[in-house]
Amino acid sequence: MRLTKELQNEIIELKQKNDVCILAHAYQTQDIHEVADFIGDSFALSKKAMTAPQKTILMCGVRFMAETAKILSPDKKVILSNPDAGCPMAEQLTVKELVELKKQYPDSAVVAYINTTSELKTECDLCVTSASALEAVKKIPQKEILFIPDCNLGSWLAAQVPEKTFHFIKGGCPVHMQISAEDVTAARKKYPGALLLVHPECKKEVTDQADYAGSTTGIINFAENSDAKEFIIGTDNSIVQHLQFAHPDKKFYPLAKCCVCDDMRLTTLVDVYNCVKGEGGEEIILAPEVMEKARRCIDAMLG
Ligand code: 13P
Ligand code: SF4
Repeated sequence: MRLTKELQNEIIELKQKNDVCILAHAYQTQDIHEVADFIGDSFALSKKAMTAPQKTILMCGVRFMAETAKILSPDKKVILSNPDAGCPMAEQLTVKELVELKKQYPDSAVVAYINTTSELKTECDLCVTSASALEAVKKIPQKEILFIPDCNLGSWLAAQVPEKTFHFIKGGCPVHMQISAEDVTAARKKYPGALLLVHPECKKEVTDQADYAGSTTGIINFAENSDAKEFIIGTDNSIVQHLQFAHPDKKFYPLAKCCVCDDMRLTTLVDVYNCVKGEGGEEIILAPEVMEKARRCIDAMLG
């Protein structure tokens, strides 16, 4: 039987031989993190995709992340590690629906969460991630913002930018939205000394009670830099495992057992192996006009 370490060693050899840069989202599993060239949240992965020197980028995450990498590095070959790994939120709004919505809010800047399809981005003014949203939204000249598709992230943002008027649709992350105020009450009772750190994709009833709300990297940095010893984590439960692995002196608990993104979990180490061998995954191909138009709102985010 082949051991994980043996497969990892083969992946490391093959990625060097075939000039592949492996980018892994923070929600990927530990065995994949160990062979990645870079691990990060969606903002950090976007920036890394622009500067990676290798000819091929292998994105271990979900489709919109691979599309963003392709848009930012159009001359590179970009592979999505598992073709079925999508983000359900990215497809909650069609281009046709967005065009109609824009007519209702003609004075609004259209701000898209990065968790959207490339086609949707072609109709947007600014793209944001949970890590970049606050700063980016404050800078835009328009006073009104149509924020798509995540109304939870949008409301969290709106509360911190009271000088602007926000309009939302009813979109959001089906994984984070499952967490409820009752989960917070139960976790606080079970772990009374722990701090609660949550992703802003959670509902307002959850973020309102948190000691910290922020992007995946924000949560990781907060836990690392805090003097506290115990944390309840309100985001994909892979982060509980990663933090526990990196900080055995601290304790990390999931806010809700249900907070597991099935799409993020689709990629396996064998998928990564097949991709670096040149046999697996899906090469991302986007129409040149889509890439050109979608890039404008991503560039607006990256500055
Ligand atoms: P981050 O921007 O924090 O990586 O979040 C992406 C995501 O899909 C969270 O569910
Ligand atoms: Fe999409 Fe939610 Fe999964 Fe993130 S956790 S990829 S927002 S479904």
